[in-house]
Amino acid sequence: LIGVFDSGHGGLTILRALVQAMPERSFVYLGDHAHMPYGERMPADIVALTQAGVSTLFDRGCKLVVLACNTAAAVALRTLQQDWLPGVDPQRRILGVLVPTVEVATNRAWLDESPVNTAGPVRTIGILATRRTVTSNVYPEEIRKRAPSTLVFQQACAGLVNLIEQQVHEDIIRAAVAEHVAALLAQLDGRKLDVVMLGCTHYPIIAHIFAEFLPDTCEVLSQPQIVARSLSDYLQRHAALYAPSGAAPQFLTTGNPATASAFATTFFGKTVAFESLSAP
Ligand code: DGL
Repeated sequence: LIGVFDSGHGGLTILRALVQAMPERSFVYLGDHAHMPYGERMPADIVALTQAGVSTLFDRGCKLVVLACNTAAAVALRTLQQDWLPGVDPQRRILGVLVPTVEVATNRAWLDESPVNTAGPVRTIGILATRRTVTSNVYPEEIRKRAPSTLVFQQACAGLVNLIEQQVHEDIIRAAVAEHVAALLAQLDGRKLDVVMLGCTHYPIIAHIFAEFLPDTCEVLSQPQIVARSLSDYLQRHAALYAPSGAAPQFLTTGNPATASAFATTFFGKTVAFESLSAP
């Protein structure tokens, strides 16, 4: 079993890509709807909530948990991997969405130790993410380490996750997106935007709205596809540890199961029933 953790609905974008890429694998999805949005929380809170979520998924039998949430991956992953996991079960693994995304953004393997190309072409990357992911500064730091000539511009889309979770009218979401994209483009000071990364799992749900406001010429990285490819490679490299089982995905939420089920049923186009976990 492979766990997929998110603060709410957003990780379903990642889950859908994982199921499509690896239909033979079994996934357990946990949305911490009771505590979202993580992007507006303090780091210590995000670490504690993510740890609780990963524990639940381990208890359900997951040997490997993917933090589908960028905010959790940016703020909590390293701490959990280094300070918590070894004392819990060193055989289990927690992976995030950040590493594969940075690898694609920089065209360089995470652990590649060959000298970086400081004279590489100047490229601009725009990152749209939650406030906490932006203030963690992890994406620009990790990208610049590997591709120093890349100019990284970040824009926090405060409040957007809530609008998506609450499924407010698309015009309200459109107005918010227009404002955030305009703020990102203003930072570029007339430079051309080469690549955009929707650095929050909720944003691909409204990718069509982002596309209305982003320049036609910029490439939009698809994080769900990137993560699916990376996980599939990882599982092939560790085939002996993770045998496929082919069982149907399970869905857990700390929030209201009826709301989560309704959203996921629309999202997947088939009935999805979330099981309720009581929020800690
Ligand atoms: N979906 C999460 C992410 O990828 C964060 C959403 C939230 O703020 O809870 O960053």
